[in-house]
Amino acid sequence: MSSGTTSNTASEIKLWGGRFQQEADAQFQALNNSLPFDQKLLPYDITGSIAHAKMLGRQGIIPQSDADLLVSTLESLLADYQSSHLTIDGSTAEDVHTFVEQHLIAKIGDVGKKLHTGRSRNDQVALDLKLYLRDQVSQLDKLLHNLLTTLITLSEDHIDTLMPGYTHLQRAQPVTLAHHFLAYAEMFSRDRSRLKDLHTRMGQCPLGAGALAGAPYPLDRQGVAKDLGFDGPTWNSLDTVSDRDHALEALSAFSITMMHLSRFCEELVIWNSLEFGFVEMADAFATGSSMMPQKKNPDAAELIRGKAGRVYGSLISLLTTMKALPLAYNKDMQEDKEPLFDAVDTVGQCLTVFTGMLASATFKKEAMATAAANGFTNATDLADYLVEKNVPFRDAHEVVGKLVLYCLEKQTDLLSLSLEEFQQHSPVFEASVYEAIGLSTCLSRRQAIGGPAKERTLDHIRHLKQSL
Ligand code: ARG
Repeated sequence: MSSGTTSNTASEIKLWGGRFQQEADAQFQALNNSLPFDQKLLPYDITGSIAHAKMLGRQGIIPQSDADLLVSTLESLLADYQSSHLTIDGSTAEDVHTFVEQHLIAKIGDVGKKLHTGRSRNDQVALDLKLYLRDQVSQLDKLLHNLLTTLITLSEDHIDTLMPGYTHLQRAQPVTLAHHFLAYAEMFSRDRSRLKDLHTRMGQCPLGAGALAGAPYPLDRQGVAKDLGFDGPTWNSLDTVSDRDHALEALSAFSITMMHLSRFCEELVIWNSLEFGFVEMADAFATGSSMMPQKKNPDAAELIRGKAGRVYGSLISLLTTMKALPLAYNKDMQEDKEPLFDAVDTVGQCLTVFTGMLASATFKKEAMATAAANGFTNATDLADYLVEKNVPFRDAHEVVGKLVLYCLEKQTDLLSLSLEEFQQHSPVFEASVYEAIGLSTCLSRRQAIGGPAKERTLDHIRHLKQSL
């Protein structure tokens, strides 16, 4: 190929052909091309380009008629995309920005070549990513909202469902299933507030930072920012094109959400075992075994637990990519997209499936109540009973410890002991002890804010409903 033909072909396909005399190596092209994955940014790229074109016309940087033509062509491209009339696969464009510009040039010729005035792909991609993330974070927030609604409904249904609370996975003190659900409601509420913070911190518009040092045109950065729903423009052009903090913050918020889902899933897997029998997953969220006909496995919960690792991986991947990059833009940063997109999709899918699985599961009240009634979950309350009768807590603890040992030897529980047996361990015991260590008393006496008493649970539900 003569150099003239080569550079002509290159400039047709690429945005930077002028300086080059050789075609890119095919393997390098495969490494370089991001269109197969960054096409996800296409609607955001077009939206950003429309705001840019309008600004160019408004500021007299290009003729208004050219700006109008750019805007209408971009709008019809967006409409084609939204109605699935746009074919992206098979394009030779190296990335989504190139794809859009090529498309414009093919449609409207020289006017299409004016869109990139005063703009670089570096501020463009920074903008696209922020637009994408702001949008996706809002979608994920809706999914968290749905999950919270489900948790509130379940808590209302199970406000009186007794269950053992655990520490070290050993039965500890009685709580209710509602109290347990609402613990997760707190986690998912914090997740929502993290997304809200992140959304606010993504409020500055990158467009106008250029490649790294702005541009010598009278750009109206305030206007573009406002047009695109941002609070204002970014303050430093070098930072703007090299900043991926928002992607990292998002990935870290997503990782925490996945950690919460994973813990909940772990509990459901354990509860779903024959050994616990606290819950049964609906058939719609379980699978069978190809060999063992009796099996019904809680795969949905296990998969969501497993996906947590994948989202953590995305966070570590991008942190590692960013860790030694000098200012400003470096091509390494193209590696931000796949982990981020994958994490967004994974969290969305997991939140959706988890909510369906939880809403359709059957919680076994009797098994939970039986478990709460065994395992000495009222032992602390027995010690508290003695404390009320003026026994120092340390002595009361010792007495009750001995009583538990006594029960273990006799294979019985505290409530089944006779008053005589109680009094053999301490003369302070009276007939009132039975009422004092009944499980419903143990619960109803825990009236301090944040405790499992029914009144406090209702307060919590009210508070959550308000915040939704
Ligand atoms: N595809 C690139 C990315 O995602 C767009 C920015 C390209 N900039 C450049 N100077 N080559 O990062």
